[in-house]
Amino acid sequence: MKIDPSSPIVVLTGAGISAESGLATFRDQGGLWEGHSIEDVATPEGFHNNPDLVLDFYNMRRREAARATPNAAHNALAALENAWDGDFLLITQNVDNLHEKAGSKKLLHMHGRLDSALCYECGSHQHWEGDLDRDCFCSSCSRPSLRPDIVWFGEMPYDMDVIEDALGKAALFVAIGTSGTVYPAAGFVAAATSAGARAVEINLEATGNSLFGECLTGTASTTVPAFVSALIGRKP
Ligand code: APR
Repeated sequence: MKIDPSSPIVVLTGAGISAESGLATFRDQGGLWEGHSIEDVATPEGFHNNPDLVLDFYNMRRREAARATPNAAHNALAALENAWDGDFLLITQNVDNLHEKAGSKKLLHMHGRLDSALCYECGSHQHWEGDLDRDCFCSSCSRPSLRPDIVWFGEMPYDMDVIEDALGKAALFVAIGTSGTVYPAAGFVAAATSAGARAVEINLEATGNSLFGECLTGTASTTVPAFVSALIGRKP
């Protein structure tokens, strides 16, 4: 892959980049959505109907994410960010902090993050590491009104203005480990390519979206370092 090193790159990651770090994806065999109904654990209505079920679901995922370590794909993306002269933005749909653990800084969590709690009374976001339950208090308004800081179905993802601006300026858009089934992230490749970007998909298998001019298949921990090496001309 040859591209001018001063040109802007936007990378989108999904659950597949964290699979080799031991975190379940959503729609693969045995994925999170096989064991839980999206309506029950990933909607505001589900939280309203059974807050303890939802809090427990994210407590389990928070504990697993805290134990997980970045794999070579996360590390390669951090190396790409450091080596790249042009603008670089990493957008993740993931709520784990493996990109941060790998050293990524130019990073947006469009679906929220497990290591944060959101107060549904005052709207404040606060770093959160342990279990979250109904009698945990908001550090801003002191009310017992904290929920997981996760963007649920039917809610607006974070930072969409910054994301749309970056997609309109990208020369290269790379989607890694995502099934491309959930909007608005699934529409990012169309936004980037209609503004003139080249688009590359990196996945276990091609999702079949013809807007991607190139598809690298294989596990992220092998394909992403190879892709980054080709971009920066050295091992990441
Ligand atoms: N290497 C590369 N790709 C992989 C690997 C791997 N080791 N393992 C799985 N994949 C790919 C799968 O082929 C699939 O295309 O990762 C993708 C995972 O797809 P999903 O489980 O649908 O995860 P994602 O695309 O991130 O889901 C998007 O849906 O449920 C919501 O909010 C949730 O952010 C999530 C969104």
